[in-house]
Amino acid sequence: MKRNILITGGAGFIGSHVVRLFVNKYPDYNIVNLDKLTYAGNLANLKDIESKPNYTFVKADIADLDEMRRIVNEYKIDGIIHLAAESHVDRSIKDPFTFARTNVMGTLALLQAAKEYWETLTEKYEGKLFYHISTDEVYGALEMTHPEGVPAPFTTKASSNDDMAYGTEFFLETTKYNPHSPYSASKASSDHFVRAYHDTYGMPTLVTNCSNNYGPYQFPEKLIPLFINNIRNRKPLPVYGKGENVRDWLFVEDHARAIDLIFHKGKVAETYNIGGFNEWKNIDLIKVIIKTVDRLLGNPEGYSEELITFVTDRLGHDMRYAIDSRKLQSELGWEPSLQFEEGIEKTVRWYLDNQEWMDNITSGDYERYYDEMYKNR
Ligand code: NAD
Ligand code: DAU
Repeated sequence: MKRNILITGGAGFIGSHVVRLFVNKYPDYNIVNLDKLTYAGNLANLKDIESKPNYTFVKADIADLDEMRRIVNEYKIDGIIHLAAESHVDRSIKDPFTFARTNVMGTLALLQAAKEYWETLTEKYEGKLFYHISTDEVYGALEMTHPEGVPAPFTTKASSNDDMAYGTEFFLETTKYNPHSPYSASKASSDHFVRAYHDTYGMPTLVTNCSNNYGPYQFPEKLIPLFINNIRNRKPLPVYGKGENVRDWLFVEDHARAIDLIFHKGKVAETYNIGGFNEWKNIDLIKVIIKTVDRLLGNPEGYSEELITFVTDRLGHDMRYAIDSRKLQSELGWEPSLQFEEGIEKTVRWYLDNQEWMDNITSGDYERYYDEMYKNR
C-alpha cells in the first residue's frame, strides 16, 4: 500500500535507525525525514539511504507551525512517527527553555498541523496515525531496594547481566507520571498533549515509552559513545556520583523494530513500554565498555580503568529506571533480538571502525564545548 510517512528527528540517533528501516523495508512508502539539524542532527547518519527514490529530507523546525502546516499538506502525510526532540538531560539542566520550546511547543505545532490537514480530507482520520516516541524518564525514578541486585523476575533474550534487577518495582504503562528533570518534564508535557489531541479531537495517536538506547550513530555526549571515544583518546571517563545509578539498556535496532511493529499493529490511544529487562549499574557497565574497548584495541586487560574519574553528580540524578515491557511482548509479540554482550561488542566495534564519523563530530566547536563543560563539573 502507498503511504506518505513523516518521520521527525530522522537525522538523530534513534530517528536515523527508524528512517533506514522504513526506507529499506517499505519501498512503496514515501518517507519524509523532517529535521532541524541541531547539533545532534547529522545527515552522515543516513549516507547509505539518502539517494533511495522513496526518501526525502526536509530541513525544518517542528516549533514552526506554518512550516508544519506546509509540510504535512505538501507531502500529503498520512502517518507521523515523531522523534524530534532535545534529548540530553545535562543540557536540559543548563537550558530548560530550549527543551520546552522544542519538546512541548514543537510537538503541539506538529499535532495541530496534522489535525488541521487530516480534518480537510473526506476520509479524515481513517488510516492515519500520530505516533509519539517518549521515554521511561517521564515515570520518574525507582527505588534501589536491592543494591547488590537480585534475580530479575522476568527473563528475555536481552537480559544478560545475570538476569539482574536492582529493585522490585518496574515502570508499567499505568505508572503515574513523575518527571524530575527539565528534559523529562518537557517529554511528559508533550505526551499529555498527544493524549489530549486523541481525547478531545478524536485524533488517532499513540505513545511509546522506551528505556535507554545504545548502538551506532549516538551523539557522543551520551554515556556509551562518550566513554568509548574518551578511552580511545586517553581522556578521563567522568562517572557521575558513585556510578551506582541504574539504567535499563536496549539496542537501538530493537527499538526501531518495535516502532515498526507498533506503527503497523499497535492500537490507537494505547501506550506501550519498550525495554529489554536489562538493568546495569553505571559503574558495572563502564567496566564492560573498558574491557571491550581495551580488548579490541589490543591493550592489556584493565589498562583503561585508570581513566575512571568520579565527578560531581548530575543535579536531581534519577537513581533507577527499569521498564516492564510485557504488554508489548504479549500483545504484539515483540522481543529484543540481542544479548547485551553481543550488542555492546557490535557497538564498540562500530565506533572504533567509524572514527571519521566520530572525529567529524567531536573536533572543533564540540570539542571546545565538551572540554569547557568537563572543567566545570
Ligand atoms: P537525538 O538527540 O540523537 O536526535 C534528535 C533529533 O531531533 C536530531 O536529529 C535533531 O536535529 C532533531 N531536532 C531537535 N530539535 C528539533 C526541532 N526543533 N525541529 C526539528 N528537529 C529537531 O535524540 P535520540 O536519542 O535519537 O532520541 C529520539 C527520540 O527518542 C526523542 O524524542 C527522545 O526523547 C526519545 N528517546 C530517546 C531514548 C534514548 O535512549 N536516546 C530513549 C527513549 C526515548
Ligand atoms: O531512559 C531513556 C533516556 O536515556 C532518554 O530519554 C534520553 O534521551 C537519553 O539521553 C538517556 O538519558 P540518560 O540521562 O539516562 O543517558 P546518559 O547517557 O546521559 O546517561 C546514562 C547514565 O550515565 C546516567 O545515569 C548518567 C551517567 N553519566 C552520563 C554521562 C554523559 C555519567 O556517569 N557520566 C557521563 O559523562
